[in-house]
Amino acid sequence: MTTAPSSLIDGKAIAAQVRADVATGVASLTASHNIVPGLAVVLVGEDPASQVYVRNKGKQTIECGMRSIEHKLAADTNQADLLALVASLNQDKEVHGILVQLPLPDHIDEKLVIESIDPAKDVDGFHPINVGRLSSGEDALTPCTPAGSIILLKSVQQDLSGMNAVIVGRSNIVGKPMAQLLLRENCTVTIAHSRTRDLADVVRAADIVIAAVGRPEMIRGDWIKPGAIVIDVGINRVPGAESGKTKLVGDVAFAEAAEVAGAITPVPGGVGPMTIACLLSNALQAAKTSVGA
Ligand code: GUN
Repeated sequence: MTTAPSSLIDGKAIAAQVRADVATGVASLTASHNIVPGLAVVLVGEDPASQVYVRNKGKQTIECGMRSIEHKLAADTNQADLLALVASLNQDKEVHGILVQLPLPDHIDEKLVIESIDPAKDVDGFHPINVGRLSSGEDALTPCTPAGSIILLKSVQQDLSGMNAVIVGRSNIVGKPMAQLLLRENCTVTIAHSRTRDLADVVRAADIVIAAVGRPEMIRGDWIKPGAIVIDVGINRVPGAESGKTKLVGDVAFAEAAEVAGAITPVPGGVGPMTIACLLSNALQAAKTSVGA
């Protein structure tokens, strides 16, 4: 079959635009209400990938004109001390958004920590109050990676109404909130996962594929319906062509899928940059809500 080559969805450029819009919103909030939105990030331990992520977050927060507050705690920090820190950030008037970097060390109950964050400052959208609001269609702080994926989808197709969307992966961070956001866009939504029967056939029926399984290049080109929009949330580090080197790949076999898809996100440079951009957008939203703006 001959198909037109798919268009590449440039997450890097779209994220830069989202950040520019956030910077404009921050400047206008500062002018009208004399506040500088503050985003607090808490990192427990020294996971190298999390450290890089937190550093990028801090830098982009400042570039948008917001205040970045960073708390780096030792890996053996006890749960009570972490909860006390979150409680103090909840009370702090200069902090409008709080993010506790996950995963947390095994001795800390992640659920308890997430539930201790003031829902009005929960810029990750992981608190059960925000999860509930999202699922009942109310205004909520929305998880950043799914929110970013919707912006990418709408950059190629403004109206998603009636489209058949298949999400592969059922995590609380991506799969489930993604389903809620796609429902809000009037898609017909399927959440597939590791126990789904005939997964390839399920994906073949999709006008929109959201790949969020965390398995390198699992979704093959011949699973993709010609013309479908493919959003690859996976970020997997695998051995590269040269020995000793590694490279990043998504959950989709990109070269194969790009032959068939109508539009597709690359890895890196697709969904990845959107996550921090949407986090900054959530921090601005939380700051605005705090002053009734
Ligand atoms: N770890 C990896 N992604 C995320 C995220 O979006 N939020 C938090 N808090 N931790 C993460």
